[in-house]
Amino acid sequence: MSATDPAAPPERMPVSITINGNRHKLEVAPWTTLLDLLRHELELTGTKKGCDHGQCGACTVIVDGRRINSCLRLAVMADGSEVTTVEGLATNGELHPMQEAFIERDAFQCGYCTPGQLCSAVALIDEGHATTRDEIREQMSGNLCRCGAYVNIADAIEDVMAKGGQAR
Ligand code: FES
Ligand code: FES
Repeated sequence: MSATDPAAPPERMPVSITINGNRHKLEVAPWTTLLDLLRHELELTGTKKGCDHGQCGACTVIVDGRRINSCLRLAVMADGSEVTTVEGLATNGELHPMQEAFIERDAFQCGYCTPGQLCSAVALIDEGHATTRDEIREQMSGNLCRCGAYVNIADAIEDVMAKGGQAR
Protein backbone atom coordinates (compact mmCIF):
# COMPACT_ATOMS: atom_id res chain seq x y z
CA MET A 1 0.00 0.00 0.00
CA SER A 2 1.62 3.29 -1.04
CA ALA A 3 1.26 6.67 0.62
CA THR A 4 -0.80 7.77 -2.39
CA ASP A 5 -3.18 4.83 -2.11
CA PRO A 6 -6.57 6.31 -1.10
CA ALA A 7 -7.07 3.24 1.14
CA ALA A 8 -3.82 3.88 3.01
CA PRO A 9 -4.14 5.17 6.55
CA PRO A 10 -2.91 8.72 7.19
CA GLU A 11 0.68 8.85 8.36
CA ARG A 12 -0.12 11.26 11.19
CA MET A 13 -3.36 12.16 12.93
CA PRO A 14 -4.08 15.09 15.24
CA VAL A 15 -4.90 14.33 18.88
CA SER A 16 -5.56 16.53 21.84
CA ILE A 17 -4.99 14.85 25.19
CA THR A 18 -4.78 16.31 28.68
CA ILE A 19 -2.00 14.56 30.55
CA ASN A 20 -1.47 15.29 34.22
CA GLY A 21 -3.39 18.53 33.80
CA ASN A 22 -1.47 19.73 30.75
CA ARG A 23 -3.15 19.86 27.35
CA HIS A 24 -1.07 18.36 24.54
CA LYS A 25 -1.96 18.88 20.88
CA LEU A 26 0.03 16.36 18.89
CA GLU A 27 0.27 14.59 15.58
CA VAL A 28 0.70 10.86 15.98
CA ALA A 29 0.93 7.86 13.70
CA PRO A 30 -2.44 6.09 13.91
CA TRP A 31 -0.81 2.90 15.19
CA THR A 32 0.97 4.65 18.10
CA THR A 33 -0.12 3.29 21.45
CA LEU A 34 -0.82 5.60 24.34
CA LEU A 35 2.09 3.91 26.14
CA ASP A 36 4.54 4.74 23.35
CA LEU A 37 3.19 8.27 23.08
CA LEU A 38 3.81 8.80 26.79
CA ARG A 39 7.24 7.24 26.87
CA HIS A 40 8.74 8.07 23.49
CA GLU A 41 7.13 11.34 22.47
CA LEU A 42 6.44 13.02 25.82
CA GLU A 43 9.30 11.46 27.82
CA LEU A 44 6.93 10.43 30.59
CA THR A 45 8.90 7.28 31.25
CA GLY A 46 7.38 6.56 34.65
CA THR A 47 4.81 4.39 32.89
CA LYS A 48 6.53 1.10 32.16
CA LYS A 49 6.39 -1.35 29.29
CA GLY A 50 6.41 -4.95 30.43
CA CYS A 51 4.67 -7.41 28.15
CA ASP A 52 3.20 -4.89 25.64
CA HIS A 53 0.28 -7.32 25.35
CA GLY A 54 -2.14 -6.37 28.13
CA GLN A 55 -1.00 -9.07 30.51
CA CYS A 56 1.20 -7.49 33.17
CA GLY A 57 -0.29 -4.11 34.12
CA ALA A 58 3.08 -2.31 34.18
CA CYS A 59 1.66 0.23 31.73
CA THR A 60 -1.46 1.08 33.76
CA VAL A 61 -2.58 4.71 33.62
CA ILE A 62 -5.86 6.39 34.49
CA VAL A 63 -7.96 7.64 31.56
CA ASP A 64 -11.08 9.62 32.38
CA GLY A 65 -11.09 8.10 35.85
CA ARG A 66 -10.67 4.49 34.78
CA ARG A 67 -7.48 2.46 34.83
CA ILE A 68 -6.43 1.02 31.53
CA ASN A 69 -3.49 -0.80 30.01
CA SER A 70 -1.89 1.93 27.92
CA CYS A 71 -0.16 -0.67 25.72
CA LEU A 72 -3.58 -1.72 24.42
CA ARG A 73 -4.96 1.79 23.87
CA LEU A 74 -4.15 3.65 20.68
CA ALA A 75 -3.22 7.26 21.26
CA VAL A 76 -5.89 8.39 18.79
CA MET A 77 -8.50 6.62 20.97
CA ALA A 78 -7.49 8.90 23.83
CA ASP A 79 -8.26 12.03 21.84
CA GLY A 80 -10.14 14.43 24.13
CA SER A 81 -9.37 12.38 27.25
CA GLU A 82 -7.82 13.22 30.58
CA VAL A 83 -4.90 10.97 31.40
CA THR A 84 -3.13 10.62 34.72
CA THR A 85 0.21 8.87 34.87
CA VAL A 86 2.38 8.14 37.88
CA GLU A 87 4.08 11.50 37.30
CA GLY A 88 0.72 13.20 37.94
CA LEU A 89 -0.11 11.57 41.28
CA ALA A 90 1.92 13.93 43.44
CA THR A 91 0.66 17.50 43.69
CA ASN A 92 2.59 20.61 44.68
CA GLY A 93 5.57 18.51 45.64
CA GLU A 94 3.56 16.30 47.99
CA LEU A 95 3.30 12.61 47.34
CA HIS A 96 -0.11 11.10 46.82
CA PRO A 97 -1.32 9.23 49.94
CA MET A 98 -1.00 6.00 47.99
CA GLN A 99 2.65 6.75 47.22
CA GLU A 100 3.28 7.47 50.90
CA ALA A 101 1.57 4.23 51.89
CA PHE A 102 3.68 2.23 49.43
CA ILE A 103 6.81 3.70 50.98
CA GLU A 104 5.62 3.11 54.53
CA ARG A 105 4.65 -0.48 53.75
CA ASP A 106 7.76 -1.18 51.67
CA ALA A 107 5.43 -2.26 48.87
CA PHE A 108 8.06 -2.66 46.17
CA GLN A 109 11.44 -4.17 45.54
CA CYS A 110 12.82 -3.46 42.05
CA GLY A 111 10.01 -0.92 41.50
CA TYR A 112 9.36 -1.79 37.87
CA CYS A 113 5.71 -2.63 38.43
CA THR A 114 5.18 0.17 40.95
CA PRO A 115 3.93 2.99 38.67
CA GLY A 116 1.24 0.67 37.33
CA GLN A 117 0.42 -0.64 40.80
CA LEU A 118 0.03 2.92 42.08
CA CYS A 119 -2.25 4.07 39.26
CA SER A 120 -4.30 0.90 39.58
CA ALA A 121 -4.59 1.28 43.36
CA VAL A 122 -5.67 4.92 43.13
CA ALA A 123 -8.36 4.10 40.55
CA LEU A 124 -9.41 1.01 42.52
CA ILE A 125 -10.36 3.16 45.47
CA ASP A 126 -12.24 5.60 43.23
CA GLU A 127 -14.15 2.70 41.68
CA GLY A 128 -15.37 1.68 45.13
CA HIS A 129 -15.65 -2.02 44.24
CA ALA A 130 -13.18 -3.33 46.81
CA THR A 131 -13.92 -3.31 50.51
CA THR A 132 -12.23 -6.50 51.72
CA ARG A 133 -8.67 -7.72 51.37
CA ASP A 134 -9.78 -10.49 49.03
CA GLU A 135 -11.55 -7.93 46.86
CA ILE A 136 -8.44 -5.75 46.80
CA ARG A 137 -6.36 -8.73 45.69
CA GLU A 138 -8.92 -9.65 43.04
CA GLN A 139 -9.21 -6.10 41.73
CA MET A 140 -5.42 -5.71 41.65
CA SER A 141 -4.88 -9.07 39.94
CA GLY A 142 -4.18 -7.41 36.59
CA ASN A 143 -1.01 -5.88 38.01
CA LEU A 144 1.73 -8.47 38.25
CA CYS A 145 4.79 -8.11 40.45
CA ARG A 146 7.69 -10.40 39.68
CA CYS A 147 9.27 -9.46 43.01
CA GLY A 148 6.20 -10.79 44.83
CA ALA A 149 5.43 -7.67 46.87
CA TYR A 150 1.72 -8.47 46.84
CA VAL A 151 1.21 -8.66 50.60
CA ASN A 152 2.77 -5.24 51.17
CA ILE A 153 0.90 -3.72 48.23
CA ALA A 154 -2.41 -4.92 49.68
CA ASP A 155 -1.34 -3.58 53.09
CA ALA A 156 -0.66 -0.15 51.57
CA ILE A 157 -4.02 -0.05 49.81
CA GLU A 158 -5.80 -1.10 52.99
CA ASP A 159 -4.03 1.69 54.87
CA VAL A 160 -5.27 4.31 52.40
CA MET A 161 -8.77 2.88 52.48
CA ALA A 162 -8.77 2.92 56.27
CA LYS A 163 -7.96 6.62 56.15
CA GLY A 164 -10.96 7.24 53.94
CA GLY A 165 -9.24 6.69 50.60
CA GLN A 166 -7.96 9.76 48.87
CA ALA A 167 -7.73 9.49 45.13
CA ARG A 168 -7.05 12.65 43.26
S1 FES B 1 2.91 -3.60 29.16
FE1 FES B 1 0.80 -3.23 29.09
S2 FES B 1 -0.08 -4.86 30.19
FE2 FES B 1 2.04 -5.35 30.10
S1 FES C 1 8.58 -4.56 42.73
FE1 FES C 1 9.71 -5.64 41.21
S2 FES C 1 8.18 -6.28 39.83
FE2 FES C 1 7.07 -5.43 41.44
